[in-house]
Amino acid sequence: MIEKEIWEKRHRESTGRFHRPTAFSRFVYFNFLKDKKGKLLDLACGKGADSIFFHNKGFSVTGIDYSSEAIKQFNETQKRYDIFLGSFVKDITKTLPFEDRTYDVIYSRIGVNYFNDNTTKELFKEIKRVLKSEGLFLFQVKSVNDKDYGTGKKIEKDMFQDDEGYIRHYFSKDYAESLLEGFNILMIEERAIPGKSTYLEVVAEKK
Ligand SMILES: C[S@@+](CC[C@H](N)C(=O)[O-])C[C@H]1O[C@@H](n2cnc3c(N)ncnc32)[C@H](O)[C@@H]1O
Repeated sequence: MIEKEIWEKRHRESTGRFHRPTAFSRFVYFNFLKDKKGKLLDLACGKGADSIFFHNKGFSVTGIDYSSEAIKQFNETQKRYDIFLGSFVKDITKTLPFEDRTYDVIYSRIGVNYFNDNTTKELFKEIKRVLKSEGLFLFQVKSVNDKDYGTGKKIEKDMFQDDEGYIRHYFSKDYAESLLEGFNILMIEERAIPGKSTYLEVVAEKK
């Protein structure tokens, strides 16, 4: 099964779940975003729970994800609550369909750790291009210290594919820093959730 079909299936099978804002969205909002306003891009937004959280906090939000099932459920939630956000089916490994310096904030929760090194580098360049100067890029990815690191077939350094076909690229602090040329890193921290995942959480400001 190709990666995209895995995500379509996961989103279909979890209909009605994952509709609450995540701990990461609340953490970054209260620590870095509560005095900010403007345009926010949620990369690989899934069913949009975090996008809706930021919308409710006053941001003008666009969410993109390549799963049409996720965006369908996101749109149904918007209809139910009578709200309107931009939500599009889009593969984030392709050129982002936005002008230079469009966004004040770019956010991604577990959305940028699926791609090989070259694609990840290109994606980070695109993120920098569409972010305004002094704009914030806030993201959470799986860490190299995650319990699942090393499971499955090795694709590249720190990147593995499991039997189902699901691919993960685990980030070290050094790797994240190397991708963030042209940014001031305001926070880079590992967060270990006992018995569950270990994440790397990063907040960076474009120079
Ligand atoms: C772990 S989920 C996170 C969803 C959401 N950010 C959240 O926290 O609930 C990862 C998401 O990445 C999306 N995704 C994976 N590869 C993608 C790509 N190349 N372009 C856009 N979205 C992608 C999947 O469809 C899925 O919704």
